[in-house]
Amino acid sequence: MTEKTAKEKLSHINDIRELWKGDSLELLKVLHIITRDEKLNADSRRKLKQVYHLIQLIEPIIQQLYAKNPNLKIVDMGAGKSYLGFILYDLVLRKLEGTRLIGVETRDELVQKSKELANSGKFERMEFVASTIEAASNAVKGPLDLVCALHACDTATDDAILFGIHTNAKAFALVPCCQAEIAEQLRTKAGAGSLVDLTLQTLFAQPIHRREFGSHITNVIRTLFLQSKGYKTTVTELIGWEHSLKNELILAEKVSTPDHPQSIKSQKMLDELLLKFQLSPRLVNCRS
Ligand SMILES: C[S@@+](CC[C@H](N)C(=O)[O-])C[C@H]1O[C@@H](n2cnc3c(N)ncnc32)[C@H](O)[C@@H]1O
Repeated sequence: MTEKTAKEKLSHINDIRELWKGDSLELLKVLHIITRDEKLNADSRRKLKQVYHLIQLIEPIIQQLYAKNPNLKIVDMGAGKSYLGFILYDLVLRKLEGTRLIGVETRDELVQKSKELANSGKFERMEFVASTIEAASNAVKGPLDLVCALHACDTATDDAILFGIHTNAKAFALVPCCQAEIAEQLRTKAGAGSLVDLTLQTLFAQPIHRREFGSHITNVIRTLFLQSKGYKTTVTELIGWEHSLKNELILAEKVSTPDHPQSIKSQKMLDELLLKFQLSPRLVNCRS
């Protein structure tokens, strides 16, 4: 190796070291986050930063839950290549004996790859299910402790919420992805002149405003919905906007029941919001 190549390699490793808090760079290689010659491209750097931030924010929740029940069951919905699951396991769950992490992903080829890595001997408490979230109830039984969904597309975040509620999940960590359902309803229903207050329509008359407003109101609906089921919610940004536009983090912890006055108040606010904008989201329609 020439002096220049050696220096370059060192700077790549330093770059990764700045981000990677785990013991083994091998995991990042196997996940293709870094290349075999230990380079990190801009997309991977962004992804790693997002995953780290999320893990930092959910670790206290995991530790709290673990103190009460060491047989924690965590699910990662819309797991994709399972970056979140493997890194979370490597950094946090490996030390917490008894915890299990289950990844649910609809793309079979990604699930097979994750299974291969999990079976390599270092991730014995990880499992993967090839299924839509909606149909995963045969393979993933409650009660669940934590439901994670990082950038699960469109209504997959809503399916993760419904799944968690039906399985009595104690907490959620959700970073929603692109959102199309409500933007379409704003275009066809609310935008078709059926709103009582027509000035509201100016908020989403343009396609780009409809997309942004649709995404915003969707996350408001998700938050109120969780509150109406007895969850305390915290909504923040995950990481600087320069790293991702899909950046809203909804954390929810079960603190009461749907018949608690605070939950009833949230339900009422949700009903009023939906009525005002003539919206009928799947999240609410599917409620039991
Ligand atoms: C944008 S990727 C995010 C993957 C991963 N969570 C991450 O952040 O790297 C969304 C993933 O969700 C999966 N997905 C979408 N809808 C789903 C559903 N209804 N059930 C299960 N997986 C779903 C897609 O196949 C895709 O792999």
